[in-house]
Amino acid sequence: MNKAITVIKGDGIGPEITAQAVRALEKIAAKFGHEFTFGYALMGGCALDEYGVPLPEETIDMCRESDAVLLGAVGGPKWDYGPGHLRPEAGLLGIRGALGLFANIRPVKLFPALKKSCPLKDAAQKIDMIIVRELTSGAYFGDRRTYTDEEGYKTAYDTMKYNDYEIRRIARVAFDLARKRGKGLISVDKANVLDSSRLWREIVKDVRAMDYLDVELSDMLVDNAAMQLIRNPAQFDVIVTENLFGDILSDEASMLTGSLGMLPSASLGSSGLGLYEPIHGSAPDIAGTDTANPTAAILSAAMMLRFSLEMEREADEIETAVTRVLNRGYRTADIICKSELSSCEVVGCEKMGRLIADEIK
Ligand code: IPM
Ligand code: MG
Repeated sequence: MNKAITVIKGDGIGPEITAQAVRALEKIAAKFGHEFTFGYALMGGCALDEYGVPLPEETIDMCRESDAVLLGAVGGPKWDYGPGHLRPEAGLLGIRGALGLFANIRPVKLFPALKKSCPLKDAAQKIDMIIVRELTSGAYFGDRRTYTDEEGYKTAYDTMKYNDYEIRRIARVAFDLARKRGKGLISVDKANVLDSSRLWREIVKDVRAMDYLDVELSDMLVDNAAMQLIRNPAQFDVIVTENLFGDILSDEASMLTGSLGMLPSASLGSSGLGLYEPIHGSAPDIAGTDTANPTAAILSAAMMLRFSLEMEREADEIETAVTRVLNRGYRTADIICKSELSSCEVVGCEKMGRLIADEIK
């Protein structure tokens, strides 16, 4: 199959990790007889430098014309001073919005080889869940303002606003996933305090009543969910939550897998076009040192094969390659733990990527 993939390397470690994801995809293309055409587009700080805006129109157009988008990460101290709309992150929110990518799927799975890197004492319990994060509404996209009020106080607000349609469509994505996995859905909100959460809870229940009575549903308050993720992560299978809560809980949950550097994600909309990115940021402090973990980016490429390109076997192949490399004892710096220093080998970003690509034969 011929597929056009737009690659947005971004800033910081973005270029290093996406290079390794592209490398894995190239091996997949060779092995399975596909042709992937990679087109490169700018977004984030590098786009600010080049075009003066974090998300050039060209980038949006190129994404729209491709079969899938692979993204590294954006942001860095160099661009931290501009107004909100001229920050690299505005590019990321802009592309999510422009492509209508309302459903962010974040699988949190502990590779057996990394049990020792999980900070919980009893990591033997199974950690295998999916966080479904609403991605194009809530506080990230609501009305906001920074101003000086009548009494002279500097003031700022962000509005966490949801309508029933936005809740309904993300709930359906989560119910569909939960139905496939067969272990129920946990909807996370703050309905004891927030109006937007009370609506969230009502609509999620309504969606279930209409079409998903076979899927078990429970509600959990976000503060409790944050605690339960540490107390007993095995109780979670599919979680659905709004944008900001999903951002926070997914970083928390990622640590259960050993490192933020292990978690891929897929952002999907109703058009079928998907954007695939690691959940971690651009880590400017280690950019260019060849120490980043490319695994999340490589696993994001696997999600791309599965969700956007209908290449299930190819996706499995990448995931198996990652499993094998970890089983053989190779670790990037973020996933090595002290007790494994003598039995494991610490490798850099490039070598980790090469080892994984070499497993695709
Ligand atoms: C994420 C990131 C982004 C977010 C940042 C970089 C804007 O943290 O994808 O989780 O908050 O959505
Ligand atoms: Mg985040």
